[in-house]
Amino acid sequence: MLKIYKLGDEILHKKASMVPDFDQTLRDLVEAMFETMHQGDGIGLAAPQVGVLKRVFISNVTGDEPRVFINPEILRTSIEQSTYEEGCLSIPEIYADILRPSAVTIQAWNERGKPFRFDAEGLLARVILHENDHLNGILFIDRVNAKKRKRLVKLYDRKVKNGCA
Ligand code: NI
Repeated sequence: MLKIYKLGDEILHKKASMVPDFDQTLRDLVEAMFETMHQGDGIGLAAPQVGVLKRVFISNVTGDEPRVFINPEILRTSIEQSTYEEGCLSIPEIYADILRPSAVTIQAWNERGKPFRFDAEGLLARVILHENDHLNGILFIDRVNAKKRKRLVKLYDRKVKNGCA
């Protein structure tokens, strides 16, 4: 189990750097990330959330295989958008409706250095966009207006930080 960094930790707002080597250290990180994500009942997790500023994220959406994305690049997003209530292991107990493109085309490498490209839609597309945001220091609450964000942070402080959850 890895420590999950929470809202308020500076690392969540930093831009992650490219992974230079597809080595055992990377594969160990990915394995530990899957354990951590499953432990937290998450469907996606990005390396900065566990304190590693590298361009790595994973997903495991119900009905889909577990996926690993190293050095990902979003090649295309649909014009069509949809709204869905998102949460994040780094902001426990907080949920908000977030508008995002409904479909994406992504290119990335797996943990063994094999490149791939595919189209995703629905929940998987959403997870990909949410996790990819983490690599750029963006949280889902950064995608609501300032007033709503302030309210969510306040709610988080009350519920979680102060231990009244
Ligand atoms: Ni998240």
